[in-house]
Amino acid sequence: MVRRGRTAAPGAGGGPGGDRRSPGGAVSSTATLTAVSNHEISVHLLDGESRLDGGLGAVEVTVDDVRWSVVSDPRPQPSARVRAVGSSPVREILALTARPGVISFAGGLPAPELFDADALRAAFDHVLTTRPAQVLQYSTTEGDPDLRAALAARITGSGLPTAPDDLLVTTGSQQGLSLVAAALLDPGDVVLVEQPAYLAAIQCFTLAGARVVPVPGDADGIDPDALDAAVARERPSLLYLVPTFSNPTGRTLPGERRRRVAEIAARHGLWIVEDDPYGELRYRGEPLPPIAAQPAAADRTILLGSLSKIMAPGMRLGWLRSPAGPRRSLVVAKQAADLHTSTVVQAAAATYLAKTGLDDHVARIRAAYAPRRDAMLAALPRVLPEGSVWSDPDGGMFVWVRLPGDVDTGELLHRALEHDVAFVPGYPFYVDSPDRATLRLSFTTYGPAEIEEGLDRLGRALRG
Ligand SMILES: Cc1ncc(COP(=O)(O)O)c(C=O)c1O
Repeated sequence: MVRRGRTAAPGAGGGPGGDRRSPGGAVSSTATLTAVSNHEISVHLLDGESRLDGGLGAVEVTVDDVRWSVVSDPRPQPSARVRAVGSSPVREILALTARPGVISFAGGLPAPELFDADALRAAFDHVLTTRPAQVLQYSTTEGDPDLRAALAARITGSGLPTAPDDLLVTTGSQQGLSLVAAALLDPGDVVLVEQPAYLAAIQCFTLAGARVVPVPGDADGIDPDALDAAVARERPSLLYLVPTFSNPTGRTLPGERRRRVAEIAARHGLWIVEDDPYGELRYRGEPLPPIAAQPAAADRTILLGSLSKIMAPGMRLGWLRSPAGPRRSLVVAKQAADLHTSTVVQAAAATYLAKTGLDDHVARIRAAYAPRRDAMLAALPRVLPEGSVWSDPDGGMFVWVRLPGDVDTGELLHRALEHDVAFVPGYPFYVDSPDRATLRLSFTTYGPAEIEEGLDRLGRALRG
């Protein structure tokens, strides 16, 4: 569709339009242009000097005595939901920081030298040699029975009785989030999250059309009183938490708060999604029972787990432990998402768990990461300015820092990159009102000496 006109032309595309005289007396026209269906509106000002491209919706243009045309270009558009989410700034920042020579505390990457590549290769060899017709075939949505049995035994061993049928194998715990969103949320539903929160979960719930509402917390995680108030005010469907060694803050929700969270969810009738990819990476103190183990919330808590941080993220293996109620809906969501997680990868992981086991490997990872965390925590007082505060995580991969004063860590990152060091600014982890003086540091990717060198560089960037 092309419409042409001179000044005083009517509005195009169905929207109202009209004339007006500018104060200087020149003839001008204001037209409000409304996109028809999925068409994008472009306004080409024919004086050759200006051009304005509008997106979907209404575009108002004012032109002074020039001829204009409106072109409605029938290009297909992405969904409004995906446009609302946008790309993850963290992944964009990671691309920026992946430059040779940069010591990057930005990515939440497991240390690659710790991957048990030999035993994993042997496991793949074994299943491809002994059962090729089976492991290269389609398989059930719920997951490999041997893998589910091994995972259930592992979860039971950690103190949460679990049967293989309680588990759905997922393509990473990230898929667990998508399945929960697809199975349990309707557009417009409210999801409560801690503030700051894991960014890809915020994206996932937003993509499902939910309204994500942050709940304040402190150094111990979400504040139960604030949660109670938010539940009464917002009538949410779901609460999403990373209660153990959270991403991005490294914080852990104490036992008493877990009990109160469970009680609030039970009283108000909402789902809890407990995301726990880091729980096994504990360097200090005793494990805490998950929220899923709280009797009050046992029928409403979906626990997400992952092999990414304790085996290898490239396997893309996670699981979802669900109470009986929503289990069928979650399986239906998974059927629609990908039919099932890779048969051969599941079979290899099950073989690895049966032949090699994860206990020694996890012990090796913990023994490697604990001194890295210590090196970071020991160096921070030396490199950060007076008045900085940071988390003191008992486990996981992250330290969360707040710098004093009116600093914008988004700008600081550019200075840091000039000194060949990187981190993730904190603002993307906020649903609203970001604290721009915050940043996340991951301590797992490098040994202590490189961590110290990287933090010295950060100190120089902060001073310069
Ligand atoms: C809190 C949290 N949940 C889920 C994931 C996704 O992990 P994966 O899909 O690799 O299991 C991550 C990854 O970093 C995470 O930090």
